[in-house]
Amino acid sequence: MIHISNARAISGETRELVIPSAQNLELDAAGLTVFPGLIDPHVHFRTPGLEHKEDWRTAARAAIYGGYTTVFDMPNTLPPTITAERLREKKALIDSQLLEAGVPLRYQLFFGADKQHLDQIPAVKDAVVGIKVFMGCSTGNLVIDDDESLHAVFEVAAQNQLLVAVHAEDEARMHERNQQFQGSKNYHDHSAIRDVEVATRAVEKAISLTRQYGTRLYLLHLSTREELALVKQAKNAGLPVYAETTPHHLFLNEDCYPALQGRAVVNPPLRRAEQNSALFEAIQSGLIDTVGSDHAPHTTVEKAKPYGECPSGMPGIETTLPLLLTAYHQGQLTLEQIQRLTSSRAQEIFKLSQTEDVVLVDLNKKAEVSPQQLQTKCAWSAFAGKVLQGWPVYTILRGTCFHLI
Ligand code: DOR
Ligand code: ZN
Repeated sequence: MIHISNARAISGETRELVIPSAQNLELDAAGLTVFPGLIDPHVHFRTPGLEHKEDWRTAARAAIYGGYTTVFDMPNTLPPTITAERLREKKALIDSQLLEAGVPLRYQLFFGADKQHLDQIPAVKDAVVGIKVFMGCSTGNLVIDDDESLHAVFEVAAQNQLLVAVHAEDEARMHERNQQFQGSKNYHDHSAIRDVEVATRAVEKAISLTRQYGTRLYLLHLSTREELALVKQAKNAGLPVYAETTPHHLFLNEDCYPALQGRAVVNPPLRRAEQNSALFEAIQSGLIDTVGSDHAPHTTVEKAKPYGECPSGMPGIETTLPLLLTAYHQGQLTLEQIQRLTSSRAQEIFKLSQTEDVVLVDLNKKAEVSPQQLQTKCAWSAFAGKVLQGWPVYTILRGTCFHLI
C-alpha cells in the first residue's frame, strides 16, 4: 500500500491517506496539497492515424505530468471513430500503447456522429462516454451541418440514454464568413471568421434540440459571454445542459496573435480580452461546470504554415492545472473551484465511479513552461516562457505512484 502522511487537504487540514497498491511506499507529503486525480473530459490523443502529432505513449505521460488520471478522447482521428468496429480497433491500439508506456491511464472514448453511421449508436452505447457532434468543420472531416441529421442524433442519443457533446460552431455562417475573408493570410482573421455569432447560433440550436428530445448536452469549449447567457437560460429552465471552457479561452485572447502566430489558431478561436473575464465570472457564478484541456497537438511545422493551411488546435494537458493554480494565487479562483472544474463536476456529469487516484501538488513551486520539458510529442506550448506557480509533484494512478521530475 501507499501511505501518505502530512498532505494538506484543500480545506487546509492535514491528512493521512492509505491507497491500496502492490508497491509498499511511505510518502511524507509535507508541503504538498492533495487533489483527486484530475479528469480531462476533452482530449485529442490522435490514435489512430495521426500519430506523428501525438500517441498514447507520449500523451499518457503528458496526462500524468499534468495531474490527470482520467481522460475522454475525441473521435476525429484517421479514420474517425464512427463504427463499432473502429471503436474496438481504437481501444486495442490505445491499450497496447498504454502498456508500452507503463501508464495505466483511465480513459473513455467519445463516439463520432456521422450522417451515414447513426445506426451504429445503439451497438456502442455501453462502450462510449457519449456522442461527439461537430456542428461545424474543424480538424478532420466529421461534421453534422444539416437539421435533419442533427435531429436524428439528438433523438437517437436520448433513446439510448447517451450524452451528446457538441462542438458548437454554425457551419453555414462560418461558410459565409469564410467567403468574405477568402485568401486571407492573416492568422488574426480566424477570430473574425469564426465570430461570436457563429458560436451562439450553434449553441442556441443545440439547446433547442435538448429541449425537444431531453438529450443530455455537454457544450464543449465555450468561449463567450453570449454563449453563457444561453446556457444560463437553459439551466434556469431545468434543462440537462453542462458547460465546459478551456485553459486557452481563459488565459489567452486575440492579443496573443502577434506573438503566437499560427500557434494561436484554435477552434473555437481566441476571443477579445474581455471574454477572459466573462469566463471567470461564469466560473464564479457556477455556470461553467468543467475545464477541459482540449489537448489538440499539431507539429510545430504544421503550425508554422500560413493561415489557411495551418491546422487548428494546441496542446494543453500539462499546463492546465498550473495555469489554474496560478490564477488561484492571483485571487481569481479558489482551490475548491479548481477541484470542481477539474474533477468533481466531470465525475457527476459523466457518472464516473469514485477512484483512489490522487495528485499531490506543490502550490508554491514556480517554474517556467519549457517546451523541452513537456512530455507531449508535439513539444511546444502556447504558454512557453510563462512562469506558473503550482505544479503536480506526484500523481498516483491505480495504486502506482509517478514522481514527476
Ligand atoms: O482547435 C481545434 N482542434 N478544435 C477542434 O475542434 C479540433 C481540434 C483538433 O482535433 O485539432
Ligand atoms: Zn476538441
